[in-house]
Amino acid sequence: MTAEKAPAVLTPTATTAAGATLSRRTPRPQRFLVTRPTYFDVVYSINPWMHTDVDTDAGLAMRQWENLVATFRRLGHEVEICEGAPGLPDMVFAANAGTVIDGVAVPAKFSTDKRSGEEKPYTDWFRDHVGSVVVPTLVNEGEGDLLWTGRLLLAGSGFRTDPLAHNEVAEALGVPLVPLKLVDPSFYHLDTALAVLDTGSAGASGRAETIAYYPGAFSAGSQAALRRLYPDAIIASRADAEWFALNAVSDGRNVVVPEQAPTFARQLEERGFVPVPVDVSEFRKAGGGAKCCTLILR
Ligand code: ARG
Repeated sequence: MTAEKAPAVLTPTATTAAGATLSRRTPRPQRFLVTRPTYFDVVYSINPWMHTDVDTDAGLAMRQWENLVATFRRLGHEVEICEGAPGLPDMVFAANAGTVIDGVAVPAKFSTDKRSGEEKPYTDWFRDHVGSVVVPTLVNEGEGDLLWTGRLLLAGSGFRTDPLAHNEVAEALGVPLVPLKLVDPSFYHLDTALAVLDTGSAGASGRAETIAYYPGAFSAGSQAALRRLYPDAIIASRADAEWFALNAVSDGRNVVVPEQAPTFARQLEERGFVPVPVDVSEFRKAGGGAKCCTLILR
């Protein structure tokens, strides 16, 4: 494990299990888009997690995905399901479909032709379900690299999304943007290294949003920027990050996390969140976790 500096301020509360039940945090019901993994497989390698010689278990992948959807519904979220398409084995990673804020969708433009076939079905889905669609000209891989905190669009680059696309997306969505540079190929999308846990509360005296991240995934400058913006952030270990603990789906209270990252779950509890463990290990073989399978529709 890489040695990391402790964050400037950490304010754990005293409770764990009790804290979870007595959590003062309020969940916000959300609307998600997910894509059924009917054609999910690992048949090419576009990130270090993908090994074409390792088999995937289609039945297990489907059961894990169904459990993820059932978990979202049990937590009170609305889930829209898009059907996968043959020949598009990564289409299950709906986070990469685009970015949707306040009824405006910017669909993805993929960095690799292995996934560019997903652009049309997802753009069609946005045209049918989201108020307005702005088609980009530059490469961006949707919420894989573009995470809305409710105040700022945290925008990754380094492996997939073109840094020049940041301006294009910010302009289309009308949001302030913070560029962040990813430097470790294991964490090739921003959502593998950083999770938005709550969106804070608006207004000058409002509470800042809460995030969690793994510092080693970021350049020195981006680590410094994150420390300035989020001195209270939860700092995840590399071991948990490698189980895609940061690829978490949070409603501001309940945080859907991989069951293989108990240390991160305890860190969440200490901060008053309620970890909701799921097993999405089949999707890790393609380099994805729970959040990769989930696009937030706002
Ligand atoms: N195999 C997919 C790719 O490399 C995984 C995408 C994971 N999605 C995400 N939002 N991080 O593109």
